[in-house]
Amino acid sequence: MEVVELQAAHCDALLRFFGELPEGDLTFIEEEVTDPDVVRAWAAGKAPGRRWVAVDDGEVAGYVAVRPLPGWSSHVGEVRLVVSPTRRGSGLGRQLARQALVSAVGDGLRKLVVEVVAEQGSALALFTALGFTGEALLRDHVRDREGQLRDLMVLAHHVDETWSGMATVGLSDALGQDLD
Ligand SMILES: CC(C)(COP(=O)(O)OP(=O)(O)OC[C@H]1O[C@@H](n2cnc3c(N)ncnc32)[C@H](O)[C@@H]1OP(=O)(O)O)[C@@H](O)C(=O)NCCC(=O)NCCS
Repeated sequence: MEVVELQAAHCDALLRFFGELPEGDLTFIEEEVTDPDVVRAWAAGKAPGRRWVAVDDGEVAGYVAVRPLPGWSSHVGEVRLVVSPTRRGSGLGRQLARQALVSAVGDGLRKLVVEVVAEQGSALALFTALGFTGEALLRDHVRDREGQLRDLMVLAHHVDETWSGMATVGLSDALGQDLD
Protein backbone atom coordinates (compact mmCIF):
# COMPACT_ATOMS: atom_id res chain seq x y z
CA MET A 1 0.00 0.00 0.00
CA GLU A 2 1.43 3.32 -1.09
CA VAL A 3 0.92 6.49 0.97
CA VAL A 4 1.36 9.57 -1.21
CA GLU A 5 0.62 13.27 -0.97
CA LEU A 6 -2.75 14.08 -2.51
CA GLN A 7 -2.52 15.11 -6.17
CA ALA A 8 -5.03 16.06 -8.84
CA ALA A 9 -4.91 12.53 -10.27
CA HIS A 10 -6.39 11.15 -7.02
CA CYS A 11 -9.46 13.40 -6.97
CA ASP A 12 -11.97 11.00 -8.52
CA ALA A 13 -10.79 8.05 -6.42
CA LEU A 14 -10.86 10.18 -3.27
CA LEU A 15 -14.40 11.36 -4.02
CA ARG A 16 -15.44 7.70 -4.49
CA PHE A 17 -13.76 6.83 -1.16
CA PHE A 18 -15.61 9.57 0.72
CA GLY A 19 -18.85 8.77 -1.10
CA GLU A 20 -18.70 5.16 0.11
CA LEU A 21 -17.91 5.97 3.76
CA PRO A 22 -20.67 5.46 6.30
CA GLU A 23 -22.16 8.78 7.39
CA GLY A 24 -20.80 8.39 10.90
CA ASP A 25 -17.22 8.31 9.60
CA LEU A 26 -17.73 11.46 7.54
CA THR A 27 -18.37 13.41 10.72
CA PHE A 28 -14.70 12.86 11.64
CA ILE A 29 -13.56 14.95 8.71
CA GLU A 30 -15.80 18.00 9.14
CA GLU A 31 -15.14 19.51 5.72
CA GLU A 32 -17.59 19.01 2.82
CA VAL A 33 -15.68 16.04 1.48
CA THR A 34 -18.32 14.85 -0.95
CA ASP A 35 -18.16 18.19 -2.81
CA PRO A 36 -15.86 17.77 -5.87
CA ASP A 37 -14.83 21.45 -5.73
CA VAL A 38 -13.58 21.05 -2.15
CA VAL A 39 -11.50 18.00 -3.01
CA ARG A 40 -10.12 19.62 -6.20
CA ALA A 41 -9.09 22.69 -4.20
CA TRP A 42 -7.16 20.43 -1.79
CA ALA A 43 -5.39 18.65 -4.61
CA ALA A 44 -4.51 21.96 -6.26
CA GLY A 45 -2.92 23.16 -3.02
CA LYS A 46 -5.52 25.93 -2.70
CA ALA A 47 -6.60 24.98 0.82
CA PRO A 48 -4.51 25.25 3.98
CA GLY A 49 -2.80 22.12 5.22
CA ARG A 50 -1.39 18.91 3.73
CA ARG A 51 -3.17 15.73 2.81
CA TRP A 52 -2.14 12.16 1.99
CA VAL A 53 -3.94 9.18 0.57
CA ALA A 54 -3.25 5.45 0.74
CA VAL A 55 -3.63 4.15 -2.81
CA ASP A 56 -4.12 0.55 -3.83
CA ASP A 57 -4.60 -0.29 -7.50
CA GLY A 58 -5.93 3.20 -8.26
CA GLU A 59 -8.42 3.18 -5.40
CA VAL A 60 -8.10 5.23 -2.21
CA ALA A 61 -8.16 3.11 0.96
CA GLY A 62 -7.34 5.81 3.53
CA TYR A 63 -6.92 9.53 3.97
CA VAL A 64 -5.13 11.76 6.46
CA ALA A 65 -4.91 15.55 6.70
CA VAL A 66 -3.04 18.01 8.87
CA ARG A 67 -4.51 21.50 8.87
CA PRO A 68 -2.86 24.34 10.77
CA LEU A 69 -5.26 26.18 13.04
CA PRO A 70 -5.77 29.87 12.24
CA GLY A 71 -4.30 32.96 13.87
CA TRP A 72 -2.48 32.62 17.17
CA SER A 73 -2.68 28.82 16.96
CA SER A 74 -1.00 28.58 13.57
CA HIS A 75 1.74 26.43 15.18
CA VAL A 76 -0.90 23.78 15.97
CA GLY A 77 -1.95 21.20 13.38
CA GLU A 78 -5.25 19.39 13.49
CA VAL A 79 -5.21 15.80 12.28
CA ARG A 80 -8.09 14.11 10.46
CA LEU A 81 -7.77 10.42 9.66
CA VAL A 82 -10.07 7.88 8.14
CA VAL A 83 -9.53 4.38 6.74
CA SER A 84 -11.97 2.45 4.57
CA PRO A 85 -14.09 0.18 6.82
CA THR A 86 -13.03 -2.81 4.71
CA ARG A 87 -9.31 -2.09 5.28
CA ARG A 88 -9.28 -1.47 9.02
CA GLY A 89 -7.14 -3.43 11.45
CA SER A 90 -4.22 -4.01 9.07
CA GLY A 91 -1.99 -1.12 10.13
CA LEU A 92 -3.06 1.38 7.49
CA GLY A 93 -4.36 3.92 10.02
CA ARG A 94 -1.05 3.78 11.83
CA GLN A 95 0.91 4.21 8.58
CA LEU A 96 -1.13 7.29 7.60
CA ALA A 97 -0.98 8.86 11.06
CA ARG A 98 2.76 8.34 11.16
CA GLN A 99 3.17 10.00 7.77
CA ALA A 100 1.13 12.99 8.99
CA LEU A 101 3.16 13.27 12.19
CA VAL A 102 6.55 13.02 10.50
CA SER A 103 5.59 15.63 7.89
CA ALA A 104 4.05 17.98 10.46
CA VAL A 105 7.18 17.90 12.59
CA GLY A 106 9.29 18.45 9.46
CA ASP A 107 7.09 21.43 8.55
CA GLY A 108 7.80 22.99 11.95
CA LEU A 109 4.44 22.52 13.65
CA ARG A 110 4.91 22.50 17.44
CA LYS A 111 1.75 20.72 18.48
CA LEU A 112 -0.76 18.36 16.88
CA VAL A 113 -4.28 17.71 18.08
CA VAL A 114 -6.84 15.11 17.12
CA GLU A 115 -10.44 14.70 18.20
CA VAL A 116 -11.45 11.15 19.02
CA VAL A 117 -14.83 9.89 20.15
CA ALA A 118 -14.18 8.40 23.57
CA GLU A 119 -15.15 4.79 22.75
CA GLN A 120 -13.10 4.72 19.53
CA GLY A 121 -10.59 2.16 20.82
CA SER A 122 -8.53 1.84 17.67
CA ALA A 123 -8.06 5.59 17.21
CA LEU A 124 -7.05 5.97 20.85
CA ALA A 125 -4.56 3.10 20.66
CA LEU A 126 -3.12 4.38 17.43
CA PHE A 127 -2.54 7.99 18.49
CA THR A 128 -1.36 7.05 22.00
CA ALA A 129 1.33 4.85 20.46
CA LEU A 130 2.52 7.87 18.46
CA GLY A 131 2.98 9.99 21.58
CA PHE A 132 -0.42 11.67 21.78
CA THR A 133 -1.88 12.11 25.27
CA GLY A 134 -5.31 13.14 26.51
CA GLU A 135 -5.63 16.91 26.81
CA ALA A 136 -9.34 17.56 27.14
CA LEU A 137 -12.52 15.60 27.61
CA LEU A 138 -15.61 17.30 26.21
CA ARG A 139 -18.58 15.57 27.79
CA ASP A 140 -21.68 14.82 25.68
CA HIS A 141 -20.06 16.73 22.83
CA VAL A 142 -21.02 14.35 20.00
CA ARG A 143 -24.49 13.13 19.04
CA ASP A 144 -24.21 9.85 17.16
CA ARG A 145 -26.54 8.50 14.50
CA GLU A 146 -28.81 6.92 17.11
CA GLY A 147 -29.08 10.26 18.89
CA GLN A 148 -26.90 9.10 21.81
CA LEU A 149 -24.62 11.70 23.33
CA ARG A 150 -20.97 10.67 23.49
CA ASP A 151 -17.83 12.19 24.96
CA LEU A 152 -15.15 13.64 22.70
CA MET A 153 -11.49 13.45 23.64
CA VAL A 154 -8.91 15.92 22.39
CA LEU A 155 -5.55 14.18 22.18
CA ALA A 156 -2.41 16.25 21.75
CA HIS A 157 1.16 15.62 20.66
CA HIS A 158 3.59 18.21 21.99
CA VAL A 159 6.48 17.99 19.57
CA ASP A 160 9.28 19.38 21.78
CA GLU A 161 8.27 17.40 24.86
CA THR A 162 7.71 14.20 22.96
CA TRP A 163 10.95 14.31 21.00
CA SER A 164 12.87 12.30 23.56
CA GLY A 165 10.20 9.61 23.52
CA MET A 166 10.08 9.36 19.75
CA ALA A 167 12.71 6.65 19.55
CA THR A 168 10.33 4.32 21.33
CA VAL A 169 7.82 4.51 18.49
CA GLY A 170 10.44 4.40 15.75
CA LEU A 171 9.87 7.96 14.62
CA SER A 172 13.39 9.21 15.03
CA ASP A 173 14.57 7.20 12.03
CA ALA A 174 11.71 8.43 9.89
CA LEU A 175 12.27 12.01 11.02
CA GLY A 176 15.97 11.72 10.28
CA GLN A 177 15.29 10.54 6.74
CA ASP A 178 12.73 13.26 6.09
CA LEU A 179 14.65 16.14 7.59
CA ASP A 180 18.18 15.41 6.38
C1 LIG B 1 -9.23 5.04 13.63
C2 LIG B 1 -8.93 4.38 12.29
C3 LIG B 1 -8.32 5.39 11.33
C4 LIG B 1 -7.93 3.22 12.53
O1 LIG B 1 -7.55 2.69 11.26
P1 LIG B 1 -6.95 1.21 11.13
O2 LIG B 1 -6.36 1.08 9.78
O3 LIG B 1 -7.95 0.20 11.53
O4 LIG B 1 -5.80 1.28 12.24
P2 LIG B 1 -4.63 0.21 12.46
O5 LIG B 1 -4.94 -1.06 11.75
O6 LIG B 1 -3.35 0.91 12.12
O7 LIG B 1 -4.73 -0.04 14.02
C5 LIG B 1 -4.26 0.88 14.96
C6 LIG B 1 -4.29 0.27 16.35
O8 LIG B 1 -5.64 0.10 16.77
C7 LIG B 1 -5.80 -1.25 17.24
N1 LIG B 1 -7.18 -1.59 16.98
C8 LIG B 1 -7.74 -1.88 15.79
N2 LIG B 1 -9.08 -2.09 15.95
C9 LIG B 1 -9.33 -1.92 17.29
C10 LIG B 1 -10.50 -2.01 18.11
N3 LIG B 1 -11.71 -2.28 17.57
N4 LIG B 1 -10.39 -1.75 19.43
C11 LIG B 1 -9.20 -1.44 19.98
N5 LIG B 1 -8.05 -1.36 19.27
C12 LIG B 1 -8.13 -1.61 17.94
C13 LIG B 1 -4.84 -2.04 16.46
O9 LIG B 1 -4.56 -3.23 17.13
C14 LIG B 1 -3.68 -1.09 16.41
O10 LIG B 1 -2.96 -1.11 17.63
P3 LIG B 1 -1.66 -2.05 17.80
O11 LIG B 1 -0.77 -1.78 16.65
O12 LIG B 1 -1.12 -1.60 19.11
O13 LIG B 1 -2.17 -3.44 17.80
C15 LIG B 1 -10.22 3.77 11.66
O14 LIG B 1 -10.84 2.95 12.60
C16 LIG B 1 -11.22 4.82 11.19
O15 LIG B 1 -11.13 5.31 10.06
N6 LIG B 1 -12.17 5.20 12.07
C17 LIG B 1 -13.18 6.24 11.77
C18 LIG B 1 -12.55 7.63 11.76
C19 LIG B 1 -11.83 7.97 13.06
O16 LIG B 1 -12.20 7.58 14.14
N7 LIG B 1 -10.73 8.74 12.94
C20 LIG B 1 -9.91 9.14 14.10
C21 LIG B 1 -10.16 10.54 14.51
S1 LIG B 1 -9.85 11.74 13.25
